[in-house]
Amino acid sequence: MNIVIGNHIFDKMENFLNKNTKGNIFLITDENVGKYYSDKILHYLSNFKVNVYTLIPGEENKNLNVVKDIYSRLIDLNCDRNTVIISFGGGVVGDIAGFVASTYLRGVDYVQIPTTLLSQIDSSIGGKVGVDFKGYKNMIGSFYFPLATFIDIELLKSLNKRNITSGVGELLKYGLIYDYNFFEFLSSNIDNIYNFDNKVLKIAIEKAVYIKEKIVSEDKRDKGIRKILNFGHTIGHGIESFYNFQRFNHGEAIILGMIYESFIAKEIRLIDEKYFNEIFKVLNRLVNPEAFNQKEINEILNKMTYDKKNEKDKIVFILPVGKGKVEIFNDIEINLIKKTLSGDWIWK
Ligand SMILES: NC(=O)c1ccc[n+]([C@@H]2O[C@H](COP(=O)([O-])OP(=O)(O)OC[C@H]3O[C@@H](n4cnc5c(N)ncnc54)[C@H](O)[C@@H]3O)[C@@H](O)[C@H]2O)c1
Ligand SMILES: [Zn+2]
Repeated sequence: MNIVIGNHIFDKMENFLNKNTKGNIFLITDENVGKYYSDKILHYLSNFKVNVYTLIPGEENKNLNVVKDIYSRLIDLNCDRNTVIISFGGGVVGDIAGFVASTYLRGVDYVQIPTTLLSQIDSSIGGKVGVDFKGYKNMIGSFYFPLATFIDIELLKSLNKRNITSGVGELLKYGLIYDYNFFEFLSSNIDNIYNFDNKVLKIAIEKAVYIKEKIVSEDKRDKGIRKILNFGHTIGHGIESFYNFQRFNHGEAIILGMIYESFIAKEIRLIDEKYFNEIFKVLNRLVNPEAFNQKEINEILNKMTYDKKNEKDKIVFILPVGKGKVEIFNDIEINLIKKTLSGDWIWK
């Protein structure tokens, strides 16, 4: 895949577009990103005919109504197969823009410029595009790879702290599922990431992109090893959707999911107490786990039972089995999940 990572790389994007497009560009962004960077990007696109579609920010807009509105605009503008869609924003913009690109006229080219840490290290890699439907996340979508992805670290400087945390959660996940040294590197550099240390961010982003690319290349359509990317996501998604996606952003929920799922792994002796404590200490700095009551636990379990990852009613878990190593399980006892979510172990 064509991925460029660096600071101030819009000139590289401009060169790439000069070579690879016939000049018609449809830029999809959102209001926040537009506010900070629309002048900058339009400056670099001044040689092209550009139309801009600006989304209202937020997961609640990642739906088919917005997609339909974008199709209408593309048709009104007579955009043909030579149109190149540029996705300029976080994961929400990227998932929508990629889905539109994969379906409009049975597919037009698109280029990604992810603008959040989470989108730079996760959602822009791997070709998954789509929208939410009837309250279910990413229910409608496809696999569709961009022509190129430009990851400009400079863009992260306008992100707020919680959005950085969201990306840090997914970064730590790569360490825990694939590369313990990376987990250690990140653990000792968390403050540097929040302080936008360019060197640290570049190492972290490059490594994360490498790991995700490697896992995805072995399993493009998500039937096998790619499942390990879902560590923290079984319980994380349950909690995210229990709170109607309002209380925690994606990465924050995944941090919680990784804490609870690591606890499960410790309880069934897949990992020892020492490793669990190490994971807990790092993740607990970012988001604190909470204790849920019986009613809440049942609701979260209900959400987890409907997860797309499940097979034949069994809840699928990805659990740590050693440092930087995870495996897939589908036989975790419901009582253990309940005990985990009850949180009575948190303050012991
Ligand atoms: N396709 C995949 O493989 C994949 C993987 C993981 C997550 N996702 C999806 O990604 C989405 C979450 O992505 P996200 O965390 O980037 O959320 P997001 O796109 O909602 O962005 C978070 C917030 O940051 C703002 N923002 C974006 N860039 C900014 C910048 N540079 N400066 C200031 N503000 C900025 C946005 O306007 C938004 O308010 C979810 O919909 C999730 O399902 C997809
Ligand atoms: Zn995720």
